[in-house]
Amino acid sequence: MIQIQPLSSDNVVPMDLLLLADPSKEQILSYLQSGTCYAAFHEQDMIGVYVLSSRSQHTVEIMNVAVKESWQGKGIGKQLIHHAIAEAKTAGAHTIEIGTGNSSMHQLALYQKCGFRLTSIEHDFFLKHYDELIYENGIQCMDMVRLSLVLQAD
Ligand code: COA
Repeated sequence: MIQIQPLSSDNVVPMDLLLLADPSKEQILSYLQSGTCYAAFHEQDMIGVYVLSSRSQHTVEIMNVAVKESWQGKGIGKQLIHHAIAEAKTAGAHTIEIGTGNSSMHQLALYQKCGFRLTSIEHDFFLKHYDELIYENGIQCMDMVRLSLVLQAD
């Protein structure tokens, strides 16, 4: 049984978890300023996080979703995404978006299983915004794949 709740400003930023999803501390600190960080707890142990940020008047974006390595593959990631969808609906958002790399096969599967559809590709995003080269599943991560889920008609 896990509990998911927003972190308050006096909580320490769970940088170790956030870095699992995004290698850039600089990028994380920048979107933490505008977004709300939610954390999943198992008893006192923080085992997962996501950041929900407003992208435009009716659109919110999940900026970072990460599950502690020892807890991965147990359905926590799916619970975090469904929690984010419910929070976005409560906030009255019309669309929720999420982006991932072209090489993130597991994440692309997970987001589509949660109902997201592919919407666009931003070519060379990771080459332009990240200093280090990123490889996953033997594929270089170069392009940002954006997915979205319509929550209510505009
Ligand atoms: N192909 C198809 N489905 C796959 C898959 C694959 N290669 N790998 C995983 N899945 C599916 C699982 O089967 C599960 O679906 P099911 O419930 O229908 O069986 C679904 O993905 C969700 O799995 P879950 O256990 O909830 O995922 P998780 O708790 O491990 O969390 C991440 C997923 C991505 C958040 C987690 O692996 C993580 O923290 N990774 C590092 C950080 C990261 O990359 N974040 C995303 C940045 S875009």
